[in-house]
Amino acid sequence: MIQILTITDLSRGGAGVSRDEQGRVVFVPFTAPGDRVRVRIIEQEKRFAQAELLEVIEPGPNRQTPPCPVFGQCGGCQWQHLPYEVQWQTKGLGVKHALKRVGVTAHLADGFLWEEFPAERIWEYRNRVQLRCEDGQVGFYAPKSHRVIPVERCWIARPEINAEIASIREEAVKRGRPSKVEVDVLPSGEVRKAWNARHAALGFRQVHEEQNEKIRTWLQGALTPERVLYDLFGGSGNFSLPLVTKMKHVHCVDVSAPSHPQQGQPENLSFHRSDVSRWLAHAKSEFGSAPAAAVLDPPREGLADGFAGIEESLRRMGVSEVVAIGCDPDSWAKDVYRFTRRGWSLERAAVFDLFPQTPHVESVARLIRPS
Ligand SMILES: C[S@@+](CC[C@H](N)C(=O)[O-])C[C@H]1O[C@@H](n2cnc3c(N)ncnc32)[C@H](O)[C@@H]1O
Repeated sequence: MIQILTITDLSRGGAGVSRDEQGRVVFVPFTAPGDRVRVRIIEQEKRFAQAELLEVIEPGPNRQTPPCPVFGQCGGCQWQHLPYEVQWQTKGLGVKHALKRVGVTAHLADGFLWEEFPAERIWEYRNRVQLRCEDGQVGFYAPKSHRVIPVERCWIARPEINAEIASIREEAVKRGRPSKVEVDVLPSGEVRKAWNARHAALGFRQVHEEQNEKIRTWLQGALTPERVLYDLFGGSGNFSLPLVTKMKHVHCVDVSAPSHPQQGQPENLSFHRSDVSRWLAHAKSEFGSAPAAAVLDPPREGLADGFAGIEESLRRMGVSEVVAIGCDPDSWAKDVYRFTRRGWSLERAAVFDLFPQTPHVESVARLIRPS
């Protein structure tokens, strides 16, 4: 079904939002508020519908020309057609809305502090990408498909990664079969590649170096010094390492944490390669009832079914301050809400843009448990 619509808003998922004649909400990816568009309805429910953009009849006041020639075809960016200020405003409001929707506003501590950290580097920031190679071409999968969209350059990838695309194409042709390659640029500028390896074979790393640094600095200011810190879902120590000088001891727990002591590893840092819930269930507080702290940075789905067990273990171990980090505002807000329901209060929250040109956003909250 073809319809003419005017876009009025942006959804947190990135699509433009309109209403059809029946008052039903229609989501249209790659549109901007104020756009008058011709769309095709591709999926419909009673109260909402999904549409695909066929034509922008009249652009809204904020629409800009996306620089990337495959924008809209490749699955990477959803917002290159929007000025950065609009992207950032939408993300901040979206996170506040996610908190409000689960009912967190009633549980804010006195003097609640909200902070926003937009990105300065909004292009060429991604330090790792996963490229697909097929029939002599290198590119990214189209959304919800295994069709390769060839690229000569990715506008959000670091220049060091783009400089490798020609040689990756040559290598893929030699391999002679469809391949995937993860490319990762380290802070030193060194580029690593993993061909046809399992997902995240090179380990998890936050994709935006400068914005990651801002989260690390925020954590330095948010945690009470000289406490034992449990860095849960800590990866290979991204947050643990800069915090060791400030804390009494840091335990970094992650299924992919280093399994052997690292060269130059500080004495007050321990890695535990384990499932977080399992590790906490057996862990004992080393320092009696001295208050401890925890950073929780789970995958997209948040603490989910593990929440109750994790919260109980944290109490048992004397944790009285928690920093909850999340890349999905809804699951993060749900975890924050569940902490508040168990008596914790939300003191401070912040949003960081680690993903310019996309609707993704990183949210961080400091919660305290009154003694
Ligand atoms: C969002 S990443 C955070 C990593 C780290 N905080 C950082 O900044 O690099 C989520 C991490 O959770 C880990 N993970 C996922 N499920 C886990 C589980 N059940 N127990 C322990 N770690 C888990 C993954 O290995 C990944 O490193």
